[in-house]
Amino acid sequence: MRKGIWVLNGPSLNLLGVRRPEIYGRTTLKEIQAQLEERCQREGVPLVFHQTNHEGTLIDLLHEAREKAAVVLLNPGAYAHTSIALRDAIEAVEVPVIEVHLSNPQAREPFRRHSFVAEVARGVVAGFGALSYRLALEAALGWIQEKEEDPL
Ligand code: DQA
Repeated sequence: MRKGIWVLNGPSLNLLGVRRPEIYGRTTLKEIQAQLEERCQREGVPLVFHQTNHEGTLIDLLHEAREKAAVVLLNPGAYAHTSIALRDAIEAVEVPVIEVHLSNPQAREPFRRHSFVAEVARGVVAGFGALSYRLALEAALGWIQEKEEDPL
């Protein structure tokens, strides 16, 4: 089967829509998933979408993505700022990861200004609300297309 795009979401992103809407917007995670699914269906690229509140589960999912995903879009939530384990898992799996944030962590509290994930991510999209996911998806689709046209 054609490798697809995996979208992994970390802690408290299940509460999108009601959690601090002035920062994260009113779009729910289900709505974001539906938008990405529609776009991927048009391109014929499989989409896998998960949310978990557990660091170990995110790492297990990254390990699974190693064999199955062409690109991973990862919103690590607060684990971006705390988790060396997540950083090491991304480095280990060697699948291109795009770090996604709804808000712009650089413009927020000082403890959000460093991301362990950004050190090993292929790219970062932050600050555009739900649109951050769609922009990251366009980059992922572009890479997949480039790779199919020129597999080496
Ligand atoms: C977030 C930014 C993180 O700093 C925060 O802990 C989140 C959400 C974002 O999408 O803007 O949980 O990842």
